[in-house]
Amino acid sequence: FKGLKRIGQNTEMFEFEIQRRDGRARTATFLTPRGEVKTPMFMPVGTQGSVKGISPQELSDIGSQMILGNTYHLMLRPGEALVAAHGGLPGFTAYPGPFLTDSGGFQVMSLGHMRKITEEGVTFKSHLDGSLVTLTPERSIEVQEALGADVIMAFDECPPYPAERDYIGRSLERTIRWLERCQTVKTRPDQALFAIVQGGVHQDLRQRSLDLTLPVGTPGFAIGGLAVGEPKDQMFPAVAFTAERLPEHKPRYLMGVGHPEDLVAGIALGIDMFDCVYPTRTGRFGYALTDDGRLNMNSSAPRRQLQPLDADCDCYACRHYTRAYLAHLVRAEEMLAPRMLSLHNLRYLHRLVERARAAIAEGTFQSWAATWSQRYFKAGT
Ligand code: GUN
Ligand code: ZN
Repeated sequence: FKGLKRIGQNTEMFEFEIQRRDGRARTATFLTPRGEVKTPMFMPVGTQGSVKGISPQELSDIGSQMILGNTYHLMLRPGEALVAAHGGLPGFTAYPGPFLTDSGGFQVMSLGHMRKITEEGVTFKSHLDGSLVTLTPERSIEVQEALGADVIMAFDECPPYPAERDYIGRSLERTIRWLERCQTVKTRPDQALFAIVQGGVHQDLRQRSLDLTLPVGTPGFAIGGLAVGEPKDQMFPAVAFTAERLPEHKPRYLMGVGHPEDLVAGIALGIDMFDCVYPTRTGRFGYALTDDGRLNMNSSAPRRQLQPLDADCDCYACRHYTRAYLAHLVRAEEMLAPRMLSLHNLRYLHRLVERARAAIAEGTFQSWAATWSQRYFKAGT
């Protein structure tokens, strides 16, 4: 087990071992209490304790590794105590593998109404019943300990885009103080707390956030505050700048990303973990991801096409159905349509990271990524 890095806080339940590097890209195994995952990886989003329309058996079949859950939604409904009564998210959802929960910082900003942010935390009106709720670093950790994910996230503030530079600066300082409060109240040794680096698209603010966050020494680091509407040509320089300053031997998580091309670009910059609602959401809207770009199943062409969504895909939908049948289901608004398109899209992203891992292992990542991009953007939507 030489070269194996123990990254947990007074625990040996978490290990992150890099197998191969290719440029800045790397492939690694991340050991968590509920099993080992291979990185780079894409995490399906199960906001309400369910990846919309997809069963745990299907998730396992398509190669999902770690599932994301949300503090904000689950604390409001059904309440974390009920989840805890099932033994946490794995018992509640019947997905036995590793979980990661987001802290609620981001969801409060995008979903809560009439937010008031103070040093103490964020008070907001619930999007469900309008009641006043306060989320603090202490409360976020309390909820995340009850939900029982393997990886939990620090309670942070993710400023919107655009935001005043001064505001982003003050906000990232507060996020550090909140991180320290999260560390202090955390009790479970079987959960790894990841810090979140903020700073928007500003290099000096990213540096300031790194300077304050890295010494906390959490077992993993996330890059937050991106994919909030800024142009991609501002997002990727910020990802590159931050990723190359994060510790080599700890997992790096780019939050809320993304689209297939963003995964490929992020992996090239040394990102290990991604999550996004995109594959399931775009599937519900009738779109299928392929190596030739995004296929619109609401359009007329697929209605006559007898080939599968994607000839290279091994998902249930591609093994059994023609585009014509699936386009018919979309048109008839059958519930199987969003289910099958979501299943295929998740499998597409899992297969994309599997191919990236194989290319990294062979030392051919750059040429693989160039070939993939050329084909993906040629058809382009
Ligand atoms: N999801 C996407 N971006 C962010 C972020 O900056 N913080 C948190 N907590 N979640 C996110
Ligand atoms: Zn498929």
